Amino acid sequence: MKSIFLRLAFLFLFVAKSLFSFAEEGMLIPSLIAAFESDMKAKGMKLSAADIYSINSTSIKDAILQFGGGCTAELVSSQGLLLTNHHCGYGQIQSHSSLEHDYLKNGFWAKTKNDELTNPGLTAMRIVRIDDVTKAVLMGASSKSDQAVIQANIKKLCAAAIVGTHYEAEIKAFNYGNDYYLMLKETFLDVRFVGTPPNSIGKFGGDTDNWVWPRHTGDFSVFRIYVGKDNKPAAYSPDNVPYTPLHYLPISFQNRQEGDFTMVYGFPGQTEQHVVSSYLKFIVENERPARIHMRDLSLAVIDEGMSTSDLTRIQYSAKQASIANAWKKWIGQIEGLKNLQAIDLKLEEEKAYKAMALSKEEWKKYADVLDQLNALVEAKKNAEFDYAMGVEYFSYGPEYFKLVRGMEDLISNYEKYLEKGELEKVVGKMKTSADLFFKNYNAQVDKGIFKDQTNAYFQYTNQWDAITKNVKYSVAPTWFESYVQSKADIIYGQSIFTDQARYNAFLDGFSAKSLKKLNKDLGYTFFNQYFAPFRNESVPAYRSFQTEVSTLMQVYVEGKYLMFPDAKHWPDANSTLRITYGQLEGSAPTDGMRYTEHTTLDGLIAKYHTGNPDFDLLPRMLELHEAKNYGPYAQGDELWVCFTGSNHTTGGNSGSPVLDKNGYLMGLNFDRSWESTMSDYLFDPNRCRNIVVDIRYVLWVMDIYSDAKHLVDEMTLMKE
Ligand code: ARG
Ligand code: GLU
Repeated sequence: MKSIFLRLAFLFLFVAKSLFSFAEEGMLIPSLIAAFESDMKAKGMKLSAADIYSINSTSIKDAILQFGGGCTAELVSSQGLLLTNHHCGYGQIQSHSSLEHDYLKNGFWAKTKNDELTNPGLTAMRIVRIDDVTKAVLMGASSKSDQAVIQANIKKLCAAAIVGTHYEAEIKAFNYGNDYYLMLKETFLDVRFVGTPPNSIGKFGGDTDNWVWPRHTGDFSVFRIYVGKDNKPAAYSPDNVPYTPLHYLPISFQNRQEGDFTMVYGFPGQTEQHVVSSYLKFIVENERPARIHMRDLSLAVIDEGMSTSDLTRIQYSAKQASIANAWKKWIGQIEGLKNLQAIDLKLEEEKAYKAMALSKEEWKKYADVLDQLNALVEAKKNAEFDYAMGVEYFSYGPEYFKLVRGMEDLISNYEKYLEKGELEKVVGKMKTSADLFFKNYNAQVDKGIFKDQTNAYFQYTNQWDAITKNVKYSVAPTWFESYVQSKADIIYGQSIFTDQARYNAFLDGFSAKSLKKLNKDLGYTFFNQYFAPFRNESVPAYRSFQTEVSTLMQVYVEGKYLMFPDAKHWPDANSTLRITYGQLEGSAPTDGMRYTEHTTLDGLIAKYHTGNPDFDLLPRMLELHEAKNYGPYAQGDELWVCFTGSNHTTGGNSGSPVLDKNGYLMGLNFDRSWESTMSDYLFDPNRCRNIVVDIRYVLWVMDIYSDAKHLVDEMTLMKE
């Protein structure tokens, strides 16, 4: 018995080692970081756990913010100065840009605080405290899936946590509901735009280099938090003052070298280390390829539009970047997972898990959970497929759909608004948001997306049969095309949702009869005909599938912790504050290939000379390089631009500070290398590397390239 046990434990650890047991893997919860302090110190860290996270005094945590709900940003001066990635501030940079003020092309630097620009809706959130509330959340629950009791407890605990404060509280499930943590948050509401380099720096390399090493992107932008006179969050007001932070990050200005300790502190969005083999197979073979194809179609249309008109380029730059980003990552993920034979690894791991469960009476309850999970996925994965296609089509497809959805409220509440005399106000608001919508809209581009994606969507979701049911003659492929073409001609030629003048005129004359008009508008009826079944059937089917999966995953993961106590366990990312550590390190991603750990300005100029438009530069960069005008920012005779680290990061870690052994800012995380994109499912310590823009390059761009030295002067540079 004992020897079987040992053998199984060994097998699992062997599998586990290749999957998740290296020190670099894992996104750790800051309030539990003390458990890793000695390992971190052994790797060179000079800080104590309390320097990193403390509830009793200020700590590095207080300088880390979640930016705009998705990215990470960090405070770098006593006056609330905030750094994040260029691609994280891209929406704001774009919204302040126009043909006259093309900040995308030329950059922008506020000369004084009075020139800093407001960004309605933009927030930055600080974590005040993280508490393990698992016991309290599960109090009185009959099981870990007793949602009625759990949700009631969560509500009570959150309410109690914020009494007498200006904070918000959120409790999130970790490890599929095996653990719960309460996050107390302080959200700043007045975040102003201070500066950005031009796209030729901030987005240097564009989609060619995205997700790829070697990299030369100056992916940063600068903001500032403003608060009320009491230093507390306040809505925008001209009377607000710069925020005085509890802590801000000193700048690591020393030379660097391979092997230096690095730590990334930020808000990783989502990882799925525990997915079972059948699910991974579904992702790799069905779901991702279909999503990639949907985006191939829209990107072809958008790229064509952007390359032929400057206006379209500005209008679609942020949308294009967001569609292309996930698209390219998915391509890399599939490739990486296939190369690693990830599905086979999962199958082995599952075998070991089951054998272990069968080896002890008290573990028997874990013996069937994997079979159940795999069977469930086989039975219901189509629900997830339909859902994914709907997300692609309705949320990332033809954009006029958004405007139709924005009309729902007025349609359902028209009588009420009329009675209360609020109609004019509501209509006014809708027109204002339509202004923003049409500012970045080109009906011809949208029509192209509509034509290509509708055809594909109907195919993927098996809707053509229903559509061709009444067609008497046999249907040739061109029939589908002309069917969609004729719909597109009417929708983009006549619908009120594809033209601002038609839209405004419709709103101006809105009355009880308007619904009738809408029911004759093909743009409106077409959307509803296909969106309604998506919303009413596909979305609930997907949700209930996810709930079933999650209930079983809770048992599966509980078993992992219990039966394999020596493997390194960490909860999947869930947009909460995490720490990951490793070192400044290159990699050997494939046989015969070696990536060095940093890139330089010389390399950037070499890419420019390839002539690829993604590597365009403005003349100033060439002049400064020619003159080797690196100021105090060089290391030896090199100006470092980017470096890689062996830190386990994911989307949401963009903008995250990469800290040195003293907690000083070495650079901003902004990407992973091509071979690492699979790390959301499977982390391979040999190839997974995060990509960082060196803070010394950031400061060089501010000071020497952009003549914005006053910002550098706000910071604290640590030369030793
Ligand atoms: N890949 C990085 C991330 O996931 C950067 C994306 C921005 N750059 C771009 N070329 N789209 O967000
Ligand atoms: N660029 C990503 C982001 O926006 C970070 C890169 C990654 O996914 O690791 O968060």
